[in-house]
Amino acid sequence: MKRPQATAITSGKGGVGKTNLSVNLALALHKAGERVGIFDADLALANAHLVLGCRPNRTIVDALSGQCTMAETVVESPLGVKMIAGGSGLAEVMGLSVEKRQEIIRNFSELSGTIDHLIVDTAAGVEANVIDFVAACDRVIVVVVGEPTAFVDAYASIKVLHQDTGRDRFDVIINRAANDAVGAQIFTRFRAITDRFLKVTLNHIGTVPEDERLAIV
Ligand SMILES: Nc1ncnc2c1ncn2[C@@H]1O[C@H](COP(=O)(O)OP(=O)(O)OP(=O)(O)O)[C@@H](O)[C@H]1O
Ligand SMILES: [Mg+2]
Repeated sequence: MKRPQATAITSGKGGVGKTNLSVNLALALHKAGERVGIFDADLALANAHLVLGCRPNRTIVDALSGQCTMAETVVESPLGVKMIAGGSGLAEVMGLSVEKRQEIIRNFSELSGTIDHLIVDTAAGVEANVIDFVAACDRVIVVVVGEPTAFVDAYASIKVLHQDTGRDRFDVIINRAANDAVGAQIFTRFRAITDRFLKVTLNHIGTVPEDERLAIV
């Protein structure tokens, strides 16, 4: 069975906007007529369901423990995007074995009847949980913000993903930039670092501006 086209949204540093970008990309694809799902692959601190505004009563943990199939964990959010919720620090998920992670990835194909495009919102960093999920996706978007620590951590992530999975093309979104010109500048500076040390191609697919409406107050 053909599995949905899968896009991983990942980052080196935490808190750079992966979850918000995942949800908004999913909503944009949905508006364009695609059947979209978000898999919250942040298995320790899952929160994509909060951003999407749905309250899943089944998570990937239920599928992994055999209580339901992967397809049965899919919930429909109010805005029409489907979601597979992640975990919340449960011991069994934190120490997920390679086999279990591969099982999740293989089971993506179970979703093919209802989802054309799966957005995989990962945790930050380069732990095995993150690498394996990213490796299983067709396309990888790395989120970077214009801060030295974000540069260093994004560089480290791309390096590890390149070395461990052989991937040599990465899409990059610059988040929280003042405007497109600043975003382009940040990207150019970031690419100068990877160009110097890694044999990878980075593609700047967009800049997202700082948006004060994301704050609750
Ligand atoms: N473009 C933006 N403008 C303003 N605030 C933003 C923007 N993008 C993200 N944020 C804020 O940054 C914080 C982190 O966002 P988000 O949870 O999406 O990041 P994350 O990369 O998924 O974090 P984590 O690594 O913890 O999973 C949130 O408070 C969010 O509202
Ligand atoms: Mg997140």
